[in-house]
Amino acid sequence: MKVAPSVIAADFSKFQDEVKRIEEAGADLLHLDIMDGVFVPNITFGPMVVEAIDMITQMELDVHLMIVRPENYLAQFIDAGADWISFHAEASEKIDECLKTIRERGKKVGLAISPPTPFTKVRQYLERLDFLLIMTVNPGFYGQKLITDCLRKIEEAKEWIREHRLDCLIQVDGGIDCLNAPIVCEAGVDIVVAGAGVFKSDDYTRVIKELRCSKV
Ligand code: DX5
Ligand code: ZN
Repeated sequence: MKVAPSVIAADFSKFQDEVKRIEEAGADLLHLDIMDGVFVPNITFGPMVVEAIDMITQMELDVHLMIVRPENYLAQFIDAGADWISFHAEASEKIDECLKTIRERGKKVGLAISPPTPFTKVRQYLERLDFLLIMTVNPGFYGQKLITDCLRKIEEAKEWIREHRLDCLIQVDGGIDCLNAPIVCEAGVDIVVAGAGVFKSDDYTRVIKELRCSKV
């Protein structure tokens, strides 16, 4: 699995140092959680900060938009340096338009679903995605416990991708640590996001290695 540490769990008083440490620890992507206080009950940061992060790292930026009407902000986040960009199916009435915008700008296209949303709601879009983001906690905060009911969705998505011979990766986000990573790996996940699991550990390199190679 690829590992995408989520900086929301980093120590923001030493932000640049945290980003440097995570890059040296071998992270594959840097996951940036964008929260607007409307779609989710928390606020993080916007395109200006993404642009600043892009200037201090070589890692690809994986921007996870938890905002309403993402169609209005995609261009700004892409201009700011997003390499991978996902938005929530629950947050937009214009899913087709969003997918098209991201694709046309040559970025990795992702669609995210929160725990209550069934896989059937998004499966029609899979052939147009580079990745499907399956949330395993309710979006808004890091450090929550993984909701095991969501794991069925990973298997369902994997099955659909196989059956239809699609090229869509599965990303999982929320409550992943070294203990449960083998379970999501076994279910067929390609990219694992981890906030507290990485940033609240005392050895980023070891945790990233364990998350990546996790086998049951
Ligand atoms: C939740 C965010 C996640 C989260 C990950 O809304 O999308 O990326 O911060 O943090 P952990 O791994 O601590 O759940
Ligand atoms: Zn996220």
